[in-house]
Amino acid sequence: MFPSTFSWGVATSAYQIEGAAATDGRGPSIWDTFTHRLGTICDGSNGDIACDHYHRYAEDIELIASLNVNAYRFSVSWSRVQPLGYGAWNEKGFDFYSRLLDKLEEKNIAAHLTLYHWDLPQGLQDRGGWLNRETTERFADYAAEVARRFGHRVASIATHNEPWCTANLGYGNAQFAPGVADTALSIQVSHHLLLSHGLAIQAMRAINCPAKLGIVLNQWPATPATDSAADRAEAEWEYARSVQWFMDPIFKGRYPQKALDRMDMEKFIVHPGDMQSIRQTIDFLGVNYYFRAFVSTEQPPRMPEAELGYSDMGWEVYPQGLTSLLLALREEYPALPPVYITENGMAVADKIEDGKINDEVRIRYVESHLQAMRAAMDRGVDVQAYFYWSLLDNFEWNSGYAKRFGLVYVDYASQQRTLKQSAIWYRKLLAADPG
Ligand code: FCB
Repeated sequence: MFPSTFSWGVATSAYQIEGAAATDGRGPSIWDTFTHRLGTICDGSNGDIACDHYHRYAEDIELIASLNVNAYRFSVSWSRVQPLGYGAWNEKGFDFYSRLLDKLEEKNIAAHLTLYHWDLPQGLQDRGGWLNRETTERFADYAAEVARRFGHRVASIATHNEPWCTANLGYGNAQFAPGVADTALSIQVSHHLLLSHGLAIQAMRAINCPAKLGIVLNQWPATPATDSAADRAEAEWEYARSVQWFMDPIFKGRYPQKALDRMDMEKFIVHPGDMQSIRQTIDFLGVNYYFRAFVSTEQPPRMPEAELGYSDMGWEVYPQGLTSLLLALREEYPALPPVYITENGMAVADKIEDGKINDEVRIRYVESHLQAMRAAMDRGVDVQAYFYWSLLDNFEWNSGYAKRFGLVYVDYASQQRTLKQSAIWYRKLLAADPG
Protein backbone atom coordinates (compact mmCIF):
# COMPACT_ATOMS: atom_id res chain seq x y z
CA MET A 1 0.00 0.00 0.00
CA PHE A 2 2.87 2.45 0.78
CA PRO A 3 6.29 2.75 -0.91
CA SER A 4 8.88 0.39 0.59
CA THR A 5 11.09 3.36 1.44
CA PHE A 6 8.37 5.02 3.54
CA SER A 7 9.35 5.94 7.10
CA TRP A 8 6.95 4.97 9.85
CA GLY A 9 7.51 6.49 13.22
CA VAL A 10 6.45 7.90 16.51
CA ALA A 11 7.27 11.37 17.83
CA THR A 12 8.11 12.94 21.19
CA SER A 13 9.73 16.12 22.46
CA ALA A 14 12.33 16.72 25.16
CA TYR A 15 10.46 18.75 27.76
CA GLN A 16 7.36 16.59 27.46
CA ILE A 17 9.08 13.31 28.33
CA GLU A 18 12.63 13.65 29.63
CA GLY A 19 12.19 14.92 33.19
CA ALA A 20 15.60 15.14 34.94
CA ALA A 21 15.13 18.88 34.81
CA ALA A 22 18.21 19.70 36.89
CA THR A 23 20.26 16.55 36.32
CA ASP A 24 23.82 16.39 34.97
CA GLY A 25 24.15 20.12 34.54
CA ARG A 26 20.98 20.90 32.56
CA GLY A 27 20.09 24.58 32.76
CA PRO A 28 16.48 25.74 33.12
CA SER A 29 14.41 26.55 30.05
CA ILE A 30 11.49 28.93 29.72
CA TRP A 31 9.16 25.97 30.24
CA ASP A 32 10.70 25.26 33.65
CA THR A 33 10.13 28.87 34.62
CA PHE A 34 6.63 28.99 33.16
CA THR A 35 5.35 25.75 34.71
CA HIS A 36 6.59 26.79 38.14
CA ARG A 37 4.57 29.98 37.95
CA LEU A 38 1.18 29.60 39.64
CA GLY A 39 -1.86 29.21 37.41
CA THR A 40 -0.15 28.53 34.08
CA ILE A 41 -0.84 24.79 33.79
CA CYS A 42 -4.35 23.25 34.09
CA ASP A 43 -3.41 20.64 36.68
CA GLY A 44 -0.61 22.64 38.30
CA SER A 45 1.97 20.14 37.03
CA ASN A 46 5.35 20.56 35.35
CA GLY A 47 7.95 18.58 33.43
CA ASP A 48 10.40 18.06 36.31
CA ILE A 49 9.92 14.30 36.09
CA ALA A 50 7.49 13.83 33.18
CA CYS A 51 7.99 10.29 31.80
CA ASP A 52 11.46 10.05 33.35
CA HIS A 53 12.67 9.25 29.86
CA TYR A 54 16.14 10.59 30.68
CA HIS A 55 16.64 7.53 32.85
CA ARG A 56 14.34 5.14 30.97
CA TYR A 57 15.36 5.93 27.39
CA ALA A 58 16.71 2.42 26.75
CA GLU A 59 13.47 0.78 27.85
CA ASP A 60 11.50 3.32 25.80
CA ILE A 61 13.50 2.58 22.67
CA GLU A 62 12.90 -1.13 23.19
CA LEU A 63 9.21 -0.21 23.28
CA ILE A 64 9.54 1.78 20.06
CA ALA A 65 11.30 -1.14 18.40
CA SER A 66 8.52 -3.48 19.53
CA LEU A 67 6.07 -1.40 17.47
CA ASN A 68 7.94 -2.25 14.24
CA VAL A 69 8.52 1.42 13.50
CA ASN A 70 11.66 2.35 11.58
CA ALA A 71 11.87 6.02 12.55
CA TYR A 72 11.82 8.06 15.75
CA ARG A 73 11.35 11.80 16.02
CA PHE A 74 12.63 13.46 19.20
CA SER A 75 13.97 16.85 20.20
CA VAL A 76 17.13 18.01 21.91
CA SER A 77 16.74 20.10 25.03
CA TRP A 78 18.96 23.08 24.21
CA SER A 79 19.59 23.93 27.88
CA ARG A 80 20.71 20.34 28.52
CA VAL A 81 23.55 20.67 26.04
CA GLN A 82 24.22 24.39 26.56
CA PRO A 83 22.85 25.40 29.97
CA LEU A 84 22.61 29.14 29.26
CA GLY A 85 21.97 29.01 25.53
CA TYR A 86 25.32 30.68 24.97
CA GLY A 87 28.82 29.93 26.21
CA ALA A 88 29.89 26.54 27.52
CA TRP A 89 28.62 23.24 26.18
CA ASN A 90 27.55 20.55 28.65
CA GLU A 91 29.26 17.28 27.74
CA LYS A 92 27.00 15.25 30.01
CA GLY A 93 24.02 16.58 28.10
CA PHE A 94 25.51 15.57 24.76
CA ASP A 95 26.37 12.16 26.26
CA PHE A 96 22.70 11.53 26.92
CA TYR A 97 21.77 12.10 23.26
CA SER A 98 24.74 10.06 22.17
CA ARG A 99 23.53 7.11 24.27
CA LEU A 100 20.05 7.58 22.84
CA LEU A 101 21.46 7.44 19.30
CA ASP A 102 23.54 4.34 20.18
CA LYS A 103 20.39 2.58 21.26
CA LEU A 104 18.45 3.66 18.15
CA GLU A 105 21.32 2.45 15.97
CA GLU A 106 21.31 -0.89 17.79
CA LYS A 107 17.61 -1.22 17.00
CA ASN A 108 17.97 0.01 13.42
CA ILE A 109 15.64 2.93 13.94
CA ALA A 110 16.36 6.11 11.98
CA ALA A 111 16.69 9.19 14.17
CA HIS A 112 14.87 12.42 13.25
CA LEU A 113 16.12 15.22 15.44
CA THR A 114 14.36 18.51 16.17
CA LEU A 115 16.53 21.31 17.52
CA TYR A 116 13.85 23.48 19.07
CA HIS A 117 10.59 22.19 20.49
CA TRP A 118 9.77 25.39 22.43
CA ASP A 119 12.26 25.09 25.30
CA LEU A 120 14.48 28.16 25.02
CA PRO A 121 17.24 28.25 27.65
CA GLN A 122 16.20 30.66 30.40
CA GLY A 123 19.65 32.24 30.11
CA LEU A 124 18.67 33.53 26.67
CA GLN A 125 15.21 34.58 27.84
CA ASP A 126 16.96 36.72 30.44
CA ARG A 127 18.64 38.51 27.53
CA GLY A 128 15.35 39.14 25.73
CA GLY A 129 14.57 35.70 24.30
CA TRP A 130 13.14 35.59 20.78
CA LEU A 131 12.53 39.33 20.84
CA ASN A 132 16.28 39.83 20.87
CA ARG A 133 17.66 39.48 17.36
CA GLU A 134 20.90 38.05 18.76
CA THR A 135 19.04 34.91 19.81
CA THR A 136 18.90 34.00 16.11
CA GLU A 137 22.70 33.84 16.04
CA ARG A 138 22.87 31.80 19.23
CA PHE A 139 20.42 29.38 17.63
CA ALA A 140 22.62 29.04 14.56
CA ASP A 141 25.66 28.30 16.81
CA TYR A 142 23.67 25.66 18.65
CA ALA A 143 22.43 24.11 15.39
CA ALA A 144 25.97 23.89 14.02
CA GLU A 145 27.28 22.27 17.20
CA VAL A 146 24.54 19.63 17.27
CA ALA A 147 25.00 19.00 13.54
CA ARG A 148 28.77 18.68 13.96
CA ARG A 149 28.34 16.06 16.68
CA PHE A 150 25.28 14.18 15.44
CA GLY A 151 24.71 15.15 11.81
CA HIS A 152 26.18 11.87 10.54
CA ARG A 153 24.11 9.81 12.98
CA VAL A 154 20.63 11.14 12.24
CA ALA A 155 18.44 10.95 9.14
CA SER A 156 17.12 14.46 9.50
CA ILE A 157 17.40 17.66 11.51
CA ALA A 158 14.48 20.06 11.82
CA THR A 159 15.25 23.55 13.03
CA HIS A 160 11.95 24.53 14.66
CA ASN A 161 8.83 22.73 15.72
CA GLU A 162 5.71 24.80 15.10
CA PRO A 163 7.06 28.36 15.25
CA TRP A 164 3.41 29.46 14.95
CA CYS A 165 2.91 28.21 18.54
CA THR A 166 6.02 29.89 19.93
CA ALA A 167 4.93 33.19 18.41
CA ASN A 168 1.16 33.09 18.87
CA LEU A 169 0.77 31.12 22.10
CA GLY A 170 4.05 32.16 23.71
CA TYR A 171 3.79 35.86 22.82
CA GLY A 172 0.27 36.35 21.41
CA ASN A 173 -2.04 35.03 24.11
CA ALA A 174 0.29 33.90 26.93
CA GLN A 175 -0.95 30.29 26.95
CA PHE A 176 2.59 29.00 26.50
CA ALA A 177 6.01 30.01 27.78
CA PRO A 178 7.22 32.67 28.19
CA GLY A 179 3.64 33.83 28.79
CA VAL A 180 3.49 37.20 27.01
CA ALA A 181 0.25 38.57 25.48
CA ASP A 182 1.10 41.18 22.87
CA THR A 183 0.21 40.62 19.21
CA ALA A 184 2.74 43.09 17.85
CA LEU A 185 5.53 41.32 19.74
CA SER A 186 4.36 37.93 18.51
CA ILE A 187 4.77 39.08 14.89
CA GLN A 188 8.34 40.18 15.58
CA VAL A 189 9.06 36.87 17.32
CA SER A 190 7.78 34.95 14.30
CA HIS A 191 10.22 36.89 12.11
CA HIS A 192 13.15 36.10 14.41
CA LEU A 193 12.16 32.43 14.49
CA LEU A 194 12.12 32.31 10.70
CA LEU A 195 15.41 34.18 10.53
CA SER A 196 16.98 31.79 13.04
CA HIS A 197 15.77 28.91 10.89
CA GLY A 198 17.50 30.35 7.83
CA LEU A 199 20.72 31.08 9.72
CA ALA A 200 20.72 27.59 11.25
CA ILE A 201 20.25 25.93 7.87
CA GLN A 202 23.15 27.97 6.49
CA ALA A 203 25.35 27.12 9.48
CA MET A 204 24.62 23.39 9.15
CA ARG A 205 25.21 23.44 5.37
CA ALA A 206 28.51 25.25 5.97
CA ILE A 207 29.84 22.22 7.82
CA ASN A 208 28.45 19.84 5.20
CA CYS A 209 25.95 18.25 7.54
CA PRO A 210 24.93 15.01 5.81
CA ALA A 211 21.47 14.80 7.44
CA LYS A 212 18.39 16.07 5.60
CA LEU A 213 17.59 19.57 6.83
CA GLY A 214 14.17 21.15 7.21
CA ILE A 215 11.55 22.68 9.48
CA VAL A 216 8.32 21.47 11.08
CA LEU A 217 5.21 23.64 10.70
CA ASN A 218 1.74 23.10 12.14
CA GLN A 219 -0.78 23.71 9.43
CA TRP A 220 -4.50 23.62 8.84
CA PRO A 221 -6.75 24.32 5.91
CA ALA A 222 -9.30 27.05 6.62
CA THR A 223 -12.95 26.32 5.80
CA PRO A 224 -15.34 29.28 5.55
CA ALA A 225 -18.51 28.68 7.58
CA THR A 226 -20.72 29.87 4.73
CA ASP A 227 -20.23 30.73 1.11
CA SER A 228 -20.58 34.46 1.81
CA ALA A 229 -17.83 36.72 0.49
CA ALA A 230 -17.12 37.89 4.04
CA ASP A 231 -16.62 34.36 5.39
CA ARG A 232 -14.46 33.40 2.44
CA ALA A 233 -12.29 36.45 2.96
CA GLU A 234 -12.01 35.59 6.63
CA ALA A 235 -10.86 32.06 5.77
CA GLU A 236 -8.26 33.41 3.36
CA TRP A 237 -6.95 35.71 6.05
CA GLU A 238 -6.73 32.87 8.54
CA TYR A 239 -4.81 30.74 6.03
CA ALA A 240 -2.53 33.66 5.19
CA ARG A 241 -1.60 34.44 8.77
CA SER A 242 -1.10 30.86 9.87
CA VAL A 243 0.11 28.76 6.92
CA GLN A 244 1.39 31.24 4.34
CA TRP A 245 3.00 33.44 6.98
CA PHE A 246 5.63 30.75 7.49
CA MET A 247 5.61 29.07 4.08
CA ASP A 248 5.94 32.17 1.90
CA PRO A 249 9.15 33.49 3.49
CA ILE A 250 10.76 30.04 3.29
CA PHE A 251 9.69 29.23 -0.27
CA LYS A 252 9.10 32.65 -1.84
CA GLY A 253 11.28 34.97 0.19
CA ARG A 254 8.46 37.33 1.24
CA TYR A 255 5.57 37.63 3.67
CA PRO A 256 2.07 37.13 2.24
CA GLN A 257 0.51 40.48 1.31
CA LYS A 258 -2.93 39.32 2.47
CA ALA A 259 -1.58 38.92 5.97
CA LEU A 260 0.51 42.10 5.96
CA ASP A 261 -2.58 44.09 4.93
CA ARG A 262 -4.39 43.22 8.13
CA MET A 263 -1.60 43.00 10.66
CA ASP A 264 -0.33 45.66 12.98
CA MET A 265 3.08 46.17 11.37
CA GLU A 266 4.02 49.30 13.26
CA LYS A 267 6.69 47.64 15.37
CA PHE A 268 7.75 45.09 12.76
CA ILE A 269 11.46 45.23 11.97
CA VAL A 270 12.92 43.34 9.03
CA HIS A 271 16.55 44.09 8.18
CA PRO A 272 17.79 44.21 4.59
CA GLY A 273 18.86 40.71 3.62
CA ASP A 274 16.65 38.93 6.17
CA MET A 275 14.28 37.50 3.59
CA GLN A 276 17.18 36.07 1.57
CA SER A 277 18.55 34.53 4.75
CA ILE A 278 15.21 32.86 5.47
CA ARG A 279 14.75 31.54 1.94
CA GLN A 280 17.13 28.59 2.12
CA THR A 281 16.66 25.37 0.19
CA ILE A 282 15.40 22.71 2.55
CA ASP A 283 15.39 18.95 2.04
CA PHE A 284 12.03 18.24 3.67
CA LEU A 285 9.03 20.02 5.09
CA GLY A 286 7.59 18.60 8.30
CA VAL A 287 3.83 19.04 8.55
CA ASN A 288 1.99 18.60 11.84
CA TYR A 289 -1.70 18.10 11.20
CA TYR A 290 -4.42 17.88 13.84
CA PHE A 291 -7.52 19.79 12.68
CA ARG A 292 -8.86 22.39 10.27
CA ALA A 293 -9.73 25.99 11.02
CA PHE A 294 -13.44 26.67 10.69
CA VAL A 295 -13.83 30.35 10.02
CA SER A 296 -16.66 32.81 10.14
CA THR A 297 -17.17 36.53 10.61
CA GLU A 298 -19.59 35.48 13.34
CA GLN A 299 -17.67 35.11 16.60
CA PRO A 300 -17.30 32.48 17.86
CA PRO A 301 -18.09 30.59 14.65
CA ARG A 302 -20.87 28.05 14.85
CA MET A 303 -19.02 24.75 14.39
CA PRO A 304 -20.53 22.19 12.04
CA GLU A 305 -21.71 18.87 13.43
CA ALA A 306 -18.41 16.93 13.38
CA GLU A 307 -19.05 13.73 11.47
CA LEU A 308 -16.20 11.93 13.21
CA GLY A 309 -16.48 13.67 16.56
CA TYR A 310 -13.93 15.55 18.63
CA SER A 311 -10.80 14.56 20.48
CA ASP A 312 -10.36 14.99 24.21
CA MET A 313 -8.69 18.34 23.38
CA GLY A 314 -11.98 19.43 21.80
CA TRP A 315 -10.36 19.31 18.35
CA GLU A 316 -12.58 18.28 15.44
CA VAL A 317 -11.54 15.00 13.81
CA TYR A 318 -11.30 15.95 10.14
CA PRO A 319 -8.99 13.66 8.16
CA GLN A 320 -9.97 15.03 4.74
CA GLY A 321 -8.36 18.31 5.80
CA LEU A 322 -4.98 16.61 5.57
CA THR A 323 -5.60 15.71 1.93
CA SER A 324 -6.76 19.19 0.97
CA LEU A 325 -3.93 20.85 2.89
CA LEU A 326 -1.25 18.75 1.16
CA LEU A 327 -2.79 19.33 -2.27
CA ALA A 328 -2.92 23.07 -1.63
CA LEU A 329 0.74 23.15 -0.59
CA ARG A 330 1.81 21.34 -3.71
CA GLU A 331 -0.21 23.72 -5.84
CA GLU A 332 1.05 26.90 -4.18
CA TYR A 333 4.71 26.00 -3.71
CA PRO A 334 6.31 24.51 -6.83
CA ALA A 335 9.58 24.16 -4.88
CA LEU A 336 7.90 22.03 -2.18
CA PRO A 337 10.42 19.39 -1.01
CA PRO A 338 9.38 15.92 0.18
CA VAL A 339 6.89 16.16 3.05
CA TYR A 340 7.11 14.30 6.34
CA ILE A 341 3.97 14.17 8.44
CA THR A 342 5.92 14.86 11.61
CA GLU A 343 2.89 14.81 13.94
CA ASN A 344 -0.67 13.55 13.82
CA GLY A 345 -2.52 12.05 16.74
CA MET A 346 -5.48 12.11 19.06
CA ALA A 347 -6.02 12.80 22.75
CA VAL A 348 -8.43 10.31 24.31
CA ALA A 349 -9.58 10.05 27.94
CA ASP A 350 -7.97 6.61 28.18
CA LYS A 351 -8.61 4.33 31.13
CA ILE A 352 -6.98 1.05 32.07
CA GLU A 353 -9.58 -1.69 32.48
CA ASP A 354 -8.40 -5.20 33.33
CA GLY A 355 -4.93 -4.17 32.30
CA LYS A 356 -6.12 -3.03 28.88
CA ILE A 357 -6.65 0.32 27.25
CA ASN A 358 -9.34 0.07 24.64
CA ASP A 359 -8.77 3.08 22.44
CA GLU A 360 -10.67 1.97 19.36
CA VAL A 361 -11.42 5.61 18.57
CA ARG A 362 -7.68 6.37 18.26
CA ILE A 363 -7.24 3.44 15.86
CA ARG A 364 -9.99 4.85 13.66
CA TYR A 365 -8.34 8.27 13.87
CA VAL A 366 -4.97 7.00 12.63
CA GLU A 367 -6.53 4.80 9.98
CA SER A 368 -8.58 7.65 8.54
CA HIS A 369 -5.61 10.03 8.52
CA LEU A 370 -3.38 7.48 6.83
CA GLN A 371 -6.03 7.12 4.15
CA ALA A 372 -6.20 10.89 3.80
CA MET A 373 -2.41 11.08 3.48
CA ARG A 374 -2.48 8.25 0.92
CA ALA A 375 -5.11 10.11 -1.10
CA ALA A 376 -2.77 13.10 -1.38
CA MET A 377 0.13 10.82 -2.35
CA ASP A 378 -2.01 9.23 -5.05
CA ARG A 379 -2.51 12.72 -6.45
CA GLY A 380 1.19 13.38 -6.63
CA VAL A 381 2.25 14.82 -3.26
CA ASP A 382 5.61 13.36 -2.28
CA VAL A 383 5.03 12.27 1.34
CA GLN A 384 7.89 10.17 2.69
CA ALA A 385 7.19 9.70 6.40
CA TYR A 386 4.45 9.53 9.02
CA PHE A 387 5.06 9.99 12.75
CA TYR A 388 2.27 9.35 15.23
CA TRP A 389 2.11 11.88 18.06
CA SER A 390 2.99 10.52 20.52
CA LEU A 391 4.86 7.43 21.59
CA LEU A 392 3.93 7.97 25.23
CA ASP A 393 1.31 9.86 27.18
CA ASN A 394 3.28 12.88 28.33
CA PHE A 395 3.30 16.45 29.62
CA GLU A 396 0.85 18.16 27.27
CA TRP A 397 2.00 21.77 27.83
CA ASN A 398 -0.67 23.91 29.49
CA SER A 399 -2.97 20.85 29.73
CA GLY A 400 -0.42 19.16 32.00
CA TYR A 401 -0.88 15.41 32.33
CA ALA A 402 -4.66 15.61 31.84
CA LYS A 403 -4.53 14.83 28.11
CA ARG A 404 -3.30 11.51 26.77
CA PHE A 405 -1.99 11.30 23.20
CA GLY A 406 0.21 8.21 23.54
CA LEU A 407 0.11 4.84 21.85
CA VAL A 408 1.57 3.77 25.18
CA TYR A 409 -0.21 4.49 28.45
CA VAL A 410 1.89 5.93 31.25
CA ASP A 411 0.99 5.51 34.90
CA TYR A 412 2.86 8.53 36.21
CA ALA A 413 3.05 7.36 39.83
CA SER A 414 4.81 4.09 38.98
CA GLN A 415 6.16 5.16 35.55
CA GLN A 416 4.77 1.90 34.24
CA ARG A 417 4.19 1.79 30.48
CA THR A 418 1.34 -0.26 28.97
CA LEU A 419 0.67 -0.65 25.26
CA LYS A 420 -2.77 0.60 24.31
CA GLN A 421 -4.83 -1.31 21.75
CA SER A 422 -3.80 1.35 19.24
CA ALA A 423 -0.12 0.46 19.77
CA ILE A 424 -0.89 -3.19 19.12
CA TRP A 425 -2.82 -2.20 16.01
CA TYR A 426 0.03 0.05 14.76
CA ARG A 427 2.52 -2.75 15.34
CA LYS A 428 0.40 -5.15 13.26
CA LEU A 429 -0.09 -2.59 10.52
CA LEU A 430 3.64 -2.03 10.25
CA ALA A 431 4.44 -5.73 10.32
CA ALA A 432 2.18 -6.17 7.30
CA ASP A 433 3.26 -2.98 5.53
CA PRO A 434 6.62 -2.15 7.05
CA GLY A 435 7.55 0.54 4.54
C1 FCB B 1 1.68 19.91 18.88
C2 FCB B 1 3.01 19.91 19.60
C3 FCB B 1 3.25 18.67 20.41
C4 FCB B 1 2.01 18.21 21.11
C5 FCB B 1 0.86 18.09 20.14
C6 FCB B 1 -0.41 17.57 20.74
O1 FCB B 1 1.26 21.22 18.66
O2 FCB B 1 4.05 20.05 18.68
O3 FCB B 1 4.30 18.92 21.30
O4 FCB B 1 1.71 19.06 22.15
O5 FCB B 1 0.61 19.33 19.55
